[in-house]
Amino acid sequence: MSGPERITLAVTGASGMQYALRLLDCLVREDREVHFLISKAAQLVMATETDVSLPPKPQAMQTFLTEYTGAAAGQIRVYGKEDWMSPVASGSGAPAAMVVVPCSTGTLSAIATGACNNLVERAADVTLKERRQLILVPREAPYSSIHLENMLKLSNMGAVILPASPGFYHQPQTIDDLVDFVVARILNLLNIPQDMLPRWGEHHVGGDE
Ligand SMILES: Cc1cc2nc3c(=O)[nH]c(=O)nc-3n(C[C@H](O)[C@H](O)[C@H](O)COP(=O)(O)O)c2cc1C
Repeated sequence: MSGPERITLAVTGASGMQYALRLLDCLVREDREVHFLISKAAQLVMATETDVSLPPKPQAMQTFLTEYTGAAAGQIRVYGKEDWMSPVASGSGAPAAMVVVPCSTGTLSAIATGACNNLVERAADVTLKERRQLILVPREAPYSSIHLENMLKLSNMGAVILPASPGFYHQPQTIDDLVDFVVARILNLLNIPQDMLPRWGEHHVGGDE
């Protein structure tokens, strides 16, 4: 199996819940264990942007997401925002990689300053201190200097800033194509197989000479 077997997927209250749902689906299909965290604001954005109505309590949410994705029992684990006893809260238990998608500018700022006021922030802090893989997918427009400084700070600490800005050179026909563009980039970074988007040059033949 290439890429991490266990991944923390944190969903925060920026626009773009489709990215999170699609990534969860892909991780389940690739047999990964997903430690799932979601903020209160993200649940509101989820209800605004999609037809998915997540139950608010972690246990019920876990059952719902397991059925929604067709995951095996125990493959998706949902933790509450103050579940400090969960594996993701400590370096000895946390997965090798964490993705925050979408990443709100509020959570971006909290991670950049090490706030640790909820489990998403703590899990990201753990990922950074353990020098593990942290992928942040921010969405805001335009970016303020505060957002840009926080992104630079986190990039210098080793986090990858992967903006939710799909390209158009693959001639997307549907919204799903645009969503897949961003999700494929995340999976490429995690080194998890994906067939949604060819890697650049994969089908290139020849050249000038
Ligand atoms: C419908 C909706 C869309 C939002 N879109 C964004 C967004 O694109 N980017 C962002 O940074 N915040 C956005 N927000 C604001 C955040 O949800 C808000 O700042 C919240 O405090 C973030 O909390 P969290 O980081 O704990 O999820 C949005 C809020 C709502 C209700």
